[in-house]
Amino acid sequence: MTRLKIITFVGILIPLCTQAADQIPVIGDERAVTQHIALSELERLAPEQIIAQGKLLFNAKFTALDGAGRPASTSAEIPVKKRVDLTPAMFRTSGPDSNACVGCHNQPGSGGAGEFVVNVFASSGVVNVDFDTLEPQFSNERGTPHLHGSGLVELLAREMSADLQEIRRAAVASARSQQQRISVKLITKGVDFGELSVNPDGFIDIAKIQGVDHDLIIRPFSQKGVFTSLRQFSINAMNAHHGIQSNERWGKQWTNSDDFDEDNFTAEISSGDLTAISLYQATLPTPVQKFAEHPLLQEAAAQGEQLFRQAACNQCHIQTLPLTSLSFAEPGPYNAAGNLRQTDVAAVYRYQIDSQGLDRDQQGNWLVPIFSDLKRHVIADVHKPHFANERLSQRFIAIDEFMSAKLWGVGSTAPYGHRGDVSTLMEVIMHHGGEAQGAREKFEAFSDLQRRKVVEFLKSLQLTQG
Ligand code: HEC
Ligand code: HEC
Repeated sequence: MTRLKIITFVGILIPLCTQAADQIPVIGDERAVTQHIALSELERLAPEQIIAQGKLLFNAKFTALDGAGRPASTSAEIPVKKRVDLTPAMFRTSGPDSNACVGCHNQPGSGGAGEFVVNVFASSGVVNVDFDTLEPQFSNERGTPHLHGSGLVELLAREMSADLQEIRRAAVASARSQQQRISVKLITKGVDFGELSVNPDGFIDIAKIQGVDHDLIIRPFSQKGVFTSLRQFSINAMNAHHGIQSNERWGKQWTNSDDFDEDNFTAEISSGDLTAISLYQATLPTPVQKFAEHPLLQEAAAQGEQLFRQAACNQCHIQTLPLTSLSFAEPGPYNAAGNLRQTDVAAVYRYQIDSQGLDRDQQGNWLVPIFSDLKRHVIADVHKPHFANERLSQRFIAIDEFMSAKLWGVGSTAPYGHRGDVSTLMEVIMHHGGEAQGAREKFEAFSDLQRRKVVEFLKSLQLTQG
């Protein structure tokens, strides 16, 4: 046991930049990751080296010798112990459920989407026991989305959070100085998140905030819209899927233990590594529009785009959101405790994301073709109950609320819907009810050919191989 500890320790100490050809290899080494990056090394490495390390981590099939497995810890986001019991070391429902991130995010390649067979049974911290059933009261079954363009997604969310918080700050200041109740609309990048009111004493009335958490932080990741950053998601995913625990979340400062999951490995992933895997995902290629070869289909897709707007699908699937800056700071500004925060580091790591030919608006903003408003909606009702199929509230967000799917890349990511249980685009559109009832009815009123044109348009929104 002690020997194993020494091996990881050595792994952490070897800085990536000293990885030289003359380094003596370990015979029979079965670790998937033999090099770790310390936070302090980031500035000394070329960005390509950091991204390469991120890719290595994303594609690594973690082994017991990397510290995979968590015999005494659950998948819960907040460190939660479990009794060491007879549950097998890997378990398809409550996890660890897989060997590698790429095991699920694999189509058309690393960082892509996954089909139904790689669904996840997410209990997201609400269940602290291992569950061995697929029954929906124990976990929310979710399909695997792609991660392409994720850096732009996170940057958009950060700018939107900053805007909303500035609106709130200004409202509090004027309510106080004018000594009267002030109500303001919460609009950022054209997306309307309702309103808030402030009493003269500074009390903030949150009753009319819509589609975003009351702290006004946009959480653009997961289909529920509950994760703030790629880093936060990756810390959770490493633990839940692989049993690889980061000190940022399970370290001594929170758990009074260096080995919370009791697998005899400490510091299973370093903070530098988490920056690297976040950056790898942040720099995956942006989805593109790619038309089929036949002119008939090209023409149909172009008309389908018009019809998409005509049916007001872009009310939620906003075609482009304007982004002011491509500078990706890691860690980001809105991480909560349990994830590295900007105040925890001497220097924030900054990377300029490649604009990859994005169009710009007149103010010079980059137009990110995300096809989403990054807002949560209810698109289920009694007539269209499909998207109200979960039973477990995630972070006390109503069980039928989901974030508008980011439709970029949707032509490459069948199957569809948050459970990945819908095989055609036509069917998933027809499941729209609730707030999307009007749009669906317009779509239904189209001729059969017009509806197919909308589908042809959606098929043109594709992922590149990367
Ligand atoms: C067993 C399959 C599986 C594995 C392994 C897996 N993921 Fe995922 N991933 C999913 C599913 C399913 C979702 C959707 C979760 C949801 O909507 O609640 C997801 C969502 C994500 C998201 C949010 C994307 C978005 O736009 O909403 C990120 C980021 C992510 N995964 C990163 C990772 C990383 C990093 C790893 C490895 C440490 C990983 N995933 C391993 C299945 C998997
Ligand atoms: C009121 C907001 C709203 C409107 C309007 C709307 N959608 Fe959606 N759409 C959503 C939400 C939310 C989801 C995610 C559903 C889920 O999986 O929980 C979604 C999911 C989808 C998906 C599935 C994506 C995937 O990756 O699985 C497609 C395709 C889609 N919408 C197309 C359309 C089209 C076409 C229209 C117009 C007819 C439309 N939507 C109108 C909110 C909306």
